[in-house]
Amino acid sequence: MKILGIETSCDETGAGVVETTGNGKITLLANSVVSSLDQHIAYGGVVPEIAARSHIEHINPVIQSALKTAKVSLKEIDAIAVTHGPGLGGSLLVGVITARTIALIHKKPLYKVNHVEAHVSAAFINSLSPGLANDYSLPASQPQFPLIALIASGGHTQLVLFENSSSYLLLGQTQDDAVGEAFDKVARIIGLPYPGGPSIERAAASGDPTKYPLPIARLENPYDFSFSGLKTAVLRTAQQIVGKDYTFPSHQIAERLSDTQRSDLAASFQVAALKALVAKVKAAATHYHATSVVVSGGVAASLALRNLLQQSLSLPVISPDISLCTDNGAMVAANGALLAHSNQAPVDPLTLEIAPNLKMQFHVKEGATAGLRSYRGDIMSF
Ligand code: KG4
Ligand code: ZN
Repeated sequence: MKILGIETSCDETGAGVVETTGNGKITLLANSVVSSLDQHIAYGGVVPEIAARSHIEHINPVIQSALKTAKVSLKEIDAIAVTHGPGLGGSLLVGVITARTIALIHKKPLYKVNHVEAHVSAAFINSLSPGLANDYSLPASQPQFPLIALIASGGHTQLVLFENSSSYLLLGQTQDDAVGEAFDKVARIIGLPYPGGPSIERAAASGDPTKYPLPIARLENPYDFSFSGLKTAVLRTAQQIVGKDYTFPSHQIAERLSDTQRSDLAASFQVAALKALVAKVKAAATHYHATSVVVSGGVAASLALRNLLQQSLSLPVISPDISLCTDNGAMVAANGALLAHSNQAPVDPLTLEIAPNLKMQFHVKEGATAGLRSYRGDIMSF
């Protein structure tokens, strides 16, 4: 079965093609992405209208490019999968309308995909078509269940227990900023370019992570996250460093910091943010007897995070190739493959709506599992 996945929830226009076989193997045939990132840099964050306009311009060429790389025509595609939420309304609309149109014209089954689930599905791509062999480094094996997934990006920070590919439990999530968003905001305060994650990681490499001790939030649910206090702590520390009090405007701080102070702040923030992620992954993996850990989303591109996880856990930690961690169509196609395998019904292409606020809720397949149901009581009692 060959599946075309379409992703337009934020600022990446993505189309990917995967092929799946009865034994669950998922082979990547193509992954084309065009990002409008450059157009958002001047604003320090994604501007929804610019992102949506860019999707309109790029969606057809990106799909054509993916089909060409995969050496398939739309006629030879067996199903379409599309992100219908969560994300920016105008952006989601472009992908969903495109997918509905293709499904209707070519009479293909259409699967609706939750973007956050798709990030985890990327870790299940375990084979490459020969043409792509030099472009991706894939995990040696597919993750084993039960698994703990950390999905960390500019829009989401969630910790999820998967009993199998279609039964999962949301253990915790951020109560305020997503972790990637905190990297982006801190970068802006200390004068590093957007997106903040990679520029903070680069600056942190020459900084002292112990120079400025920063707080890690404690929350009632031990699997929830909070990053806005940490971001404010960086702001207060930076104000102090430049000899000012809390009333000093954040946009005037960066120019007064030396390179060393900037690197030390970057390193101190990075270690505090990553330690918070890793501590919760470790606690959940231990409590739920996970056999593997999956880390995905844009923040999973952080080598510092990957290293810290490997050091702290004795389980296999599986991260997709970096280009499959950030938003892309292949992960959506992979999620479509998992949905098809677990016999989920396709949706009606005439009526599929966008779901900008789609949540990752408790989700157990019909008839499934004593295990997760008992965990649910556990979670609900927090
Ligand atoms: O998944 P993604 O491409 O888009 C969203 O769905 O948000 O994630 C982008 C986010 C940005 O906030 C970026 O700063 C963060 O991922 N990021 C990183 C790193 N590389 C990207 N955060 C920390 N360390 C990195 N190396
Ligand atoms: Zn994402």
